[in-house]
Amino acid sequence: MSADEPGQGFSVALRTATWSDHGDNEGSSYMTALVEGRLGRDEYAVLVAQLYHVYDLLEDAADRMAADPVARAFDFGDLRRREALQADLAFFYGPGWQGRISPNDATRRYCDRLREVCFEWPGGFVAHHYTRYLGDLSGGQYIARQVERSLDIAAGEDGVRFYRFPGKPKGYKDRYRALLDGAPWDEAERARIVDEVKLAYRLNAEVTAELSRDLRIEPAA
Ligand code: HEM
Repeated sequence: MSADEPGQGFSVALRTATWSDHGDNEGSSYMTALVEGRLGRDEYAVLVAQLYHVYDLLEDAADRMAADPVARAFDFGDLRRREALQADLAFFYGPGWQGRISPNDATRRYCDRLREVCFEWPGGFVAHHYTRYLGDLSGGQYIARQVERSLDIAAGEDGVRFYRFPGKPKGYKDRYRALLDGAPWDEAERARIVDEVKLAYRLNAEVTAELSRDLRIEPAA
């Protein structure tokens, strides 16, 4: 399928071309158990630890991409998550959190791919950035409410800072989609970005699949 669609911007084409890949994430046993309130603090903390490794690298890549006029525009305002993740990890694991977390095998593979494509290829950086940050601003806002309720932590407090942004998600999302629509990528580059987003979804799904296996989380009944 073409990465573009007549009369629509790239943001719509990208979403349409990758939405079935999104379903593998939304439907994973771990994410389903999380939003259904079946996980405790320790089980949530392991996901936060995996995400820390991912965002730490993505935000190093964002520093590198500051030299690229197209890619740097996507790293705007208050999107960065590293500090929020650090506060959440200190809450769950204590002040020595850095020595108590480690990437699982799937997170290692995800990070390997980030190292391969996000530091030299602006489109690859945007593909991975989109998959995480627009997700956090979208379904992530629903996930946040479920996690806050089930872990009994007030919105925006340590432990659940990750999904909360200082401004309204809609404003960030509108701006993000306008950047996708306005980026000067030709059809071939758009197709490469679509493929990379599909891969990013798969790498994410593998992280939660591994967590489901390790924590012995059953699929929804
Ligand atoms: C329980 C898990 C999840 C649920 C319930 C969920 C739900 C949703 C929903 C309802 C939307 C559409 C919101 C809107 O149109 O504004 C959305 C968008 C999105 N989600 Fe998820 N999601 C989940 C997990 C994930 C994960 C793990 C990722 C990343 C790996 C992700 C990435 C995205 C992205 C990138 C979008 C934006 C698509 C676009 O509009 O271009 N989601 N999600």
